[in-house]
Amino acid sequence: MSIDLIANLSYIVAAILFIFGLKMLGHPNTARRGNGFSALGMFIAVVAGLTAEGIVSYEYILGGIIVGSIIGTLAARLVAMTVMPEMVALFNGSGGIASLLVGWGTLYSGDVGTFTAITALLAILIGGVTFTGSLIAYCKLSETFISSGALVFTGQRVVNSLLLIGMIASAVMFCMNPSPDSQWLYVVVGLALVLGIMAVIPIGGADMPVVISLLNSYSGIAACAAGFAINNNILIVAGSLVGAAGIILTNIMCKAMNRSLANVLFSGFGSVKQSKAIEGEVKPISVEDAYYVLEAASNVCFVPGYGMAAAQAQHVVKELGQILEANGAEVSYAIHPVAGRMPGHMNVLLAEADVPYEQLVEMDDINPRIENVDVAIVIGANDVVNPSSREEDSPMYGMPIINVDKARTVFVLKRSMASGFAGVDNPLFFGENTRMLFGDAKESISGVISQFG
Ligand code: TAP
Repeated sequence: MSIDLIANLSYIVAAILFIFGLKMLGHPNTARRGNGFSALGMFIAVVAGLTAEGIVSYEYILGGIIVGSIIGTLAARLVAMTVMPEMVALFNGSGGIASLLVGWGTLYSGDVGTFTAITALLAILIGGVTFTGSLIAYCKLSETFISSGALVFTGQRVVNSLLLIGMIASAVMFCMNPSPDSQWLYVVVGLALVLGIMAVIPIGGADMPVVISLLNSYSGIAACAAGFAINNNILIVAGSLVGAAGIILTNIMCKAMNRSLANVLFSGFGSVKQSKAIEGEVKPISVEDAYYVLEAASNVCFVPGYGMAAAQAQHVVKELGQILEANGAEVSYAIHPVAGRMPGHMNVLLAEADVPYEQLVEMDDINPRIENVDVAIVIGANDVVNPSSREEDSPMYGMPIINVDKARTVFVLKRSMASGFAGVDNPLFFGENTRMLFGDAKESISGVISQFG
């Protein structure tokens, strides 16, 4: 059997593992195994690719495996769950720059035909936009060097359109006479890098998870183009899968926020400030009083948000849920599709704490029966329960929420009156039936648990 045949058979095995892995990621019970399947697929693909192309010797492959495994293990162990979006942003950026370099390198491989020139150039320009766009997304999320808000200025769209047109025109000029020494190549690279920055700065921090998913898709498309440029089947397959998965996820997030992708990318969400001040009285509650209410409740619904992840409160939440059940209450966990900072964030945390999957209820299922809930316990959620999204003059207008304000009683567990990720004040905190349990969510829940004694 020739080395090429072995490589292509390995690629088919890798592609099957990718597809099954992706499918398994769709359910909490199989997600961990799915991740392992995909990782094994990638391992097979990389080893087969490097061996077939005769690029490096076994020693280098082994060295790469050791270095990569150490970095991967450290990242998985040391990076907190709450910083996962930032890490994904950096991964996307790495994918982008890798495709840019592969595309660029291809141009030095001798006689470059038109097809190779076009695909290499696509890898360069999409990879370049992904690289700098992802770095800006990282900086915004971690508030490193720049603030998380939308940065808008007059004429921004005109500038961005001109950059895009300039980049495409330079790319066409390059393809007419493709050579690694062409001036147009440097213009394309430069414009792609600038466009990545300019396209992401006007997007508000709360929309960053959508942008990261979109950039993830771009990194896949760039890798796919690089695969065509170097004629590598598995890179084409893997790139297409990432490209398609990223765009599907982007679409799901936009739908969950009831916004179009164009609105996310161009509206400068977060730069428009709230016009109306909220009136009403804030009613704090102590853990003792919260206990008395919960002790008498027969239907309790937990509504987790980003604050649960920040407080790492999922284990005590599950413990309280079990106590309430033993006390005769019906317990559920309502999940908003964009609660937290990444898709499935709350599902992952609750699965980690072994909350039975059957107790998880989606937003569309809980809302019609929220009036029957005696106590809705909001754990570090804010935007996803903000009733101002029903008001036309609110910057959040139209975003579907979990209607906790319609439950009989609402406990809101958070540390202060601060607004959520979108920076919009929340009238829920002033509601007649709302009680604020101020403090770190984990400490507050632990306090209530100790009252049950
Ligand atoms: P947020 O609106 O971000 O609110 C989280 C709240 O948690 C904060 O108001 C904060 O208040 C509180 N908090 C932080 N640390 C806490 C702690 N240790 N203990 C108790 N509370 C704590 O969260 P959300 O309701 O989950 O909304 C998610 C946001 O992300 C939305 O704006 C959504 O549109 C956006 N987004 C998400 C996604 C995905 S896929 N998840 C995608 C796109 C956009 P204090 O500081 O007062 O404690």
